[in-house]
Amino acid sequence: DTIDGRLVDAGSGLIDRRIFSDKDIFEQEMKQVFGKSWLFVGHESQIPNKGDYFTSQAGRDAVVVTRDSDGEVRVMLNVCTHRGMPVCRYDKGNAKRFTCPYHGWTFSNNGDLSGLPLSTEGYGGQLDRKKWGLIQARVTLYYGSIWATFDETVPPFEDTLGDMAVMLRDFMQGPDGEDDGLEVIDGILKFEIHSNWKFGAENNAGDLYHDVSHNSVQRVGLALSGLRGRHVWNADKHLFKTLNVAYPAGGHAARVNLYDDEQREYHPQWAVIPEVDEYFRAAHYARQERLGEKARLLNRGGIVFPNIAYNSAGRWQITMWVPRAPNRTEVWKWYFVPKNAPQKVKDTLRHYLLRYGGPSGMVEQDDIENWASAQVGAESAAANRLPMNYTLHMGQARWAWPVPWFGEGAYVDEGVSEHAQRIFYAHWAEMMGGPVSGQETGR
Ligand code: FES
Ligand code: FE
Repeated sequence: DTIDGRLVDAGSGLIDRRIFSDKDIFEQEMKQVFGKSWLFVGHESQIPNKGDYFTSQAGRDAVVVTRDSDGEVRVMLNVCTHRGMPVCRYDKGNAKRFTCPYHGWTFSNNGDLSGLPLSTEGYGGQLDRKKWGLIQARVTLYYGSIWATFDETVPPFEDTLGDMAVMLRDFMQGPDGEDDGLEVIDGILKFEIHSNWKFGAENNAGDLYHDVSHNSVQRVGLALSGLRGRHVWNADKHLFKTLNVAYPAGGHAARVNLYDDEQREYHPQWAVIPEVDEYFRAAHYARQERLGEKARLLNRGGIVFPNIAYNSAGRWQITMWVPRAPNRTEVWKWYFVPKNAPQKVKDTLRHYLLRYGGPSGMVEQDDIENWASAQVGAESAAANRLPMNYTLHMGQARWAWPVPWFGEGAYVDEGVSEHAQRIFYAHWAEMMGGPVSGQETGR
């Protein structure tokens, strides 16, 4: 199979099912998409001290992320340069060096090959240690988040992020609008799902259409505060626009609410827990003060291309899809809390996140079931008589509308739409190297 542009026809909103199930396409996207993108690997609050480290994934590549003895953040391939063994087999810790369990090559926390058994007797002192250190990624720190790529030709992170920076920075600010305001709750949630990684990504790009999936939760009630209704925000519907903001240049997208300019009041979300409500009330007004006009943004969630989703506005989390096979994906979740919040607020948020997300959470298990079942449909040769349909609200999007500070790269649609998914797949197809026929944006 070749990627010939017809697998993804962004102009007509049609997508071939094989992009979710075909092994060759999967291998090609490991090289062309994951190999050529900046990938999120974690957050600086996971490694506050020199020598701290954690293991993570850059796509299919295992990495170890360290704060080395000089305080610099490093992302290195967790692959021994001798014979390929992972040099670090723990989730996290603090170490000056990593000793490979196979033959004992030892690497400092900056990746240097510092210990070589039989260095003189076996290698005659001739092995060039500089050359055989751990393979280093390019690293970008962005308001606490850590991004990496092993490719030398990928443009700088900020260039590939483009105007999506407005949304990602807003996420990293947390509820009170202060840069670097979040910290990770210790312990990354990891589980496996039986579906292609793109089902998770496209859903988080802007699937406001799938509310029916969460009907049972809607009926039981799972608001932030435990009050009835999943999103308390719905109560204020008349006060804001619901927008799908997509960034065609990078394939990123965000689902946001934009409040009317006069709407500056705090809407109590946590009324049943006064101490928590008090914190969010104060944070709301601190944010108004700091961000002014930009505080009109209620950033609900979105994706940074290719495999990162974030949620904010009441629950701060990052979800990463680790591609393992066309029909097998590991899901990693980072849960965040505001760094300066009282412990009561942190505990309340942690409980809410666990109630809401993950395989045992009341909402995300609906989604996981959807994606695993859609995968079965994607593997059906007979079903492939028809492509997947992404034509909802086609042709309605506009550039940089309705506020200029979304940036010139923002292509915006209002309401329930598959606009953001079309942009995601158009960018995916472009990275895969195929011409994309009839791109909707006309740029
Ligand atoms: Fe690591 Fe041999 S594989 S020392
Ligand atoms: Fe959902």
